[in-house]
Amino acid sequence: MGNPKVSVVITGFEARFYDEILDLVTLFQYGRFIRRILLEETEVRRGYNIAELGVGNGRNARILAPVVDPGIVVGFDISEDMLKRAREKTRGYGNIRIEKRDIRDDMGDYEDFFHAALMVLAFHGFTPEHRGVIFDNVRRILKPGGKFYIFDYNQMDYSRAPFYFKLLIDKFECPLAEEFLSYDLPGEARKHGFAMTKKRTYVKDLFQYAEFTKV
Ligand SMILES: C[S@@+](CC[C@H](N)C(=O)[O-])C[C@H]1O[C@@H](n2cnc3c(N)ncnc32)[C@H](O)[C@@H]1O
Repeated sequence: MGNPKVSVVITGFEARFYDEILDLVTLFQYGRFIRRILLEETEVRRGYNIAELGVGNGRNARILAPVVDPGIVVGFDISEDMLKRAREKTRGYGNIRIEKRDIRDDMGDYEDFFHAALMVLAFHGFTPEHRGVIFDNVRRILKPGGKFYIFDYNQMDYSRAPFYFKLLIDKFECPLAEEFLSYDLPGEARKHGFAMTKKRTYVKDLFQYAEFTKV
């Protein structure tokens, strides 16, 4: 693969303008698209506490915060540039907390606190081992029966993917993204105490929205 990037950690210009770049490359379709998924597919309700793992610039947190108020959205990220931008963009929201944290580290201080957890376009960027750690962390911070929502690439036969998708994965994505395309997401989730309870695919089955319930 020709991509020098080694992980999903985003810094510098790309981090400061992450939302704007995504809007531009999708011809301003992405904002409406992800808003519809978060509002129509998730079962997020008033009073819920939500964890977003890899919060980025805070786009998803801003969508969910008014829905859960007086519940809170806690957005975790590791990139200083992303965190700075997320703090700026969520300043007017009293129920969003942006926190610097490596989501592979212990999250026991939030044990049993969240009704749901969310990861958007981030899960693919971890090694299979670290995905297991993240499943365990999410399981621990969720209340009984809590949900873990993942929006990410779908599993597929990469050799049969359309050329524009291969271009995205090969030239712009971190190398772990290609491995994720053949990752057994429901099977690995099951090993870590989650049942896949919903799945929808989008954009010619290239992307998936998956819901996991803590069992
Ligand atoms: C592709 S961006 C997606 C951002 C956001 N979820 C969105 O949809 O707008 C992935 C995010 O995960 C963060 N990230 C990567 N590794 C992380 C880690 N170990 N702990 C916390 N955040 C991490 C990156 O800094 C980046 O902000």
